Amino acid sequence: MGISLKGRSFLTLKDYTKDEINYLVDLSIQLKKKKLMGIKGDLLERKNIALIFEKPSTRTRCAFTVGCLDEGGHPEYLGKNDIQLGHKESVEDTARVLGRFFDGIEFRGFSQDTVEKLAKYSGVPVWNGLTDMYHPTQILADLMTIKENLGYLKGVNFTYIGDGRNNMANSLMIGCAKVGLNFMIIAPKSLWPENDLVDTCKEYAAEVGSTITISDNTDDIIGTDVIYTDVWVSMGEEEKSKERVELLKPYQVNETLVSKTGKDALVLHCLPAVKGYEVTEETFEKHSKVIFDEAENRMHTIKAVMVATV
Ligand code: CP
Ligand code: NVA
Repeated sequence: MGISLKGRSFLTLKDYTKDEINYLVDLSIQLKKKKLMGIKGDLLERKNIALIFEKPSTRTRCAFTVGCLDEGGHPEYLGKNDIQLGHKESVEDTARVLGRFFDGIEFRGFSQDTVEKLAKYSGVPVWNGLTDMYHPTQILADLMTIKENLGYLKGVNFTYIGDGRNNMANSLMIGCAKVGLNFMIIAPKSLWPENDLVDTCKEYAAEVGSTITISDNTDDIIGTDVIYTDVWVSMGEEEKSKERVELLKPYQVNETLVSKTGKDALVLHCLPAVKGYEVTEETFEKHSKVIFDEAENRMHTIKAVMVATV
């Protein structure tokens, strides 16, 4: 039976099965081909999409905007100072209003609770464009990029290094576990992910025969096919900058670390990158072709999420 995601929200990859995630990755690959062939889309014709941003964004905002326009829809950007959300009006009420106007709502902000309330009260699909806890649309682009480069996902050895308890680490762990990549976090113990989430992901991994490993030893990177890093200080945590730099210096992605893999490993980064901190300029530039393919793939994957669910 075919997969249908019509009417579904996209709040965390926990809510999606392995087959549904693979379906979205494959749909993204098809949509990318369609765009390269110059075929005009109409899959979102007469659809209105709200884009709520409490935090800044380059890739996610542009991916939703261009992805929506490519398929004939209308995107409406609603910045944090443009609407009443959470200030003058409750999230529940804003959700009920937007649900009357729009066919889908993207939310980027702080609280996972806000995006879940928007989904509960709007009655239309709601997509998580990043919260403090999760960044699920990014993971689709990461998986797509790995598939484009290696040709497969199941059995790939994937290592995330850096802040092991941020939105990217959490979401990559869920996504990789579901789809069957062998997933490792290398981070100082004080930045390890929550035990509950690790246990949940270990259950997902057991179902597909892959592994989850949490380590603080950079030597464990040996044998990895993909190295992934993210900023050491996420949006909203700026006061932690000094302590994070001290803590994470030994976990920088640089040529010494890459050579420890013993492989021709891919290096990925969700961007924006703070070069000289989580990754050196030299390593970033060596892998920039794939990193910017990954950034472009945000558009194809976000388009896939919209057309699949609206
Ligand atoms: N990777 C990512 O989400 O980038 P933006 O913050 O620019 O959207
Ligand atoms: N962890 C980063 C991801 C940016 C895409 C942040 O939340 O700022």
